[in-house]
Amino acid sequence: MNVLTTIAQLREVVKTAKYNRQSIGLVPTMGYLHEGHLTLAAHARSENELVIMSIFVNPTQFGPNEDFESYPRDFPRDTELAKSAGVDYIFAPSVEEMYPHDGGITIRAGRQAHILCGATRPGHFDGVLQVVAKLFNLMQPDRAYFGQKDAQQVAIIQTMVRDYNFPVTIRVVPVIREEDGLAKSSRNIYLSAEERSQAPAIQQGLQLAKRELLESGSVESAISLAKKIIHDNTDGHVDYLMILSYPDLQEVDDQTDQIVVAAAVHIGETRLIDNLIFSLKGEIIHV
Ligand code: PAF
Repeated sequence: MNVLTTIAQLREVVKTAKYNRQSIGLVPTMGYLHEGHLTLAAHARSENELVIMSIFVNPTQFGPNEDFESYPRDFPRDTELAKSAGVDYIFAPSVEEMYPHDGGITIRAGRQAHILCGATRPGHFDGVLQVVAKLFNLMQPDRAYFGQKDAQQVAIIQTMVRDYNFPVTIRVVPVIREEDGLAKSSRNIYLSAEERSQAPAIQQGLQLAKRELLESGSVESAISLAKKIIHDNTDGHVDYLMILSYPDLQEVDDQTDQIVVAAAVHIGETRLIDNLIFSLKGEIIHV
């Protein structure tokens, strides 16, 4: 496995792969890899001749008071893990390499970005789209792999791919969980032992909301039951807990086919997100 740090190096690799008609699978990450990322890499490995993983903590998707500086980083460990997952190349550019110019063109996410995480993280999804669009242009992947844990991110990226005609197929891989149900996340390491023991209540709340919605049909009672479970079992506070149509992220109505129940909860200093996607018949949907 090789590490590429410049766009020029990456372009050479992509040019050769295209010349040899090799399919390219892209696994975009911000590093500090966990099993969720490695599952994305395994899917990419099984479907593509060349697998490129980007490791780039993208500053444009962090707000001024967010954890860009302290976001966990461990490049030596990441390279070992990526290698063991069969990744062919890591692309790990510096911030200057990715963003050498100030004040240029940015991308603005649409309506799907105004709620859920977007409501408290203004500009976050614009930054995600900016870096993902750059990665798509640089790597020209046949397939790109994202985790369902970031369901809103996936929905917004799919909209960009549709609206801007990116010739890439988005593959979505189900949430990878700890044994007690907590969704794996690079940010889980911020949790103290006590906070970590409370965190599975988020998933329990979401499961309860799903059950209640399917049984009673009431969005309001599903939301309040889920919030109660989280309040009763954690010291955290719920940033949002919503039930929406997926992937358009609108209010649920008679026409809604797929549903997402999504939450963001602050436990201590750590903001955790999780979701379930299902149909009104109750089937879990891996989008
Ligand atoms: O999901 C992430 O880790 C990031 O948002 C992504 C897609 C790698 C863009 O920086």
